[in-house]
Amino acid sequence: MSARVHILNGPNLSRLGRREPEVYGTTTLAELAALCAGWAGGLGFELTFDQCEGEGQLVTWIHRAGDHADGLILNAGAYTHTSVAVRDAVASISIPVIEVHLSNPASRELFRRRNLLEDVVYAGLRGFGVEGYRLALEGMAARLRTA
Ligand code: DQA
Repeated sequence: MSARVHILNGPNLSRLGRREPEVYGTTTLAELAALCAGWAGGLGFELTFDQCEGEGQLVTWIHRAGDHADGLILNAGAYTHTSVAVRDAVASISIPVIEVHLSNPASRELFRRRNLLEDVVYAGLRGFGVEGYRLALEGMAARLRTA
């Protein structure tokens, strides 16, 4: 059976392509979803790709990934810096979680240096733009091979 990987995106990532393109690039979320589908297919993954604006929805979907997927790739957006609930949700599941960010939050405003997820995730990728999602999928494949 092929491994099931969920990719979850948090608030404001729906606006990719239009949102601060100098920071996040010009690829839209729909284009990113299509790219991820191709990369995931090449790795033999069964992919679920979602985005939501709300903290509660993101928590619910993290639980869903924990119950139904083999690995989770998470861009929690601003909740990375603020949400104890998202952190606790990640800590509550036992599948590997790879954190991804298009930009490198540590090289931006001071408040983005606070990361509530970094010590509860398996690994993190920051600053590679949309390529970070491809690298995260490859990293997940390597991690699941050793599971
Ligand atoms: C982001 C970085 C966060 O600081 C920001 O709040 C986002 C996007 C990124 O992908 O670079 O919404 O997660």
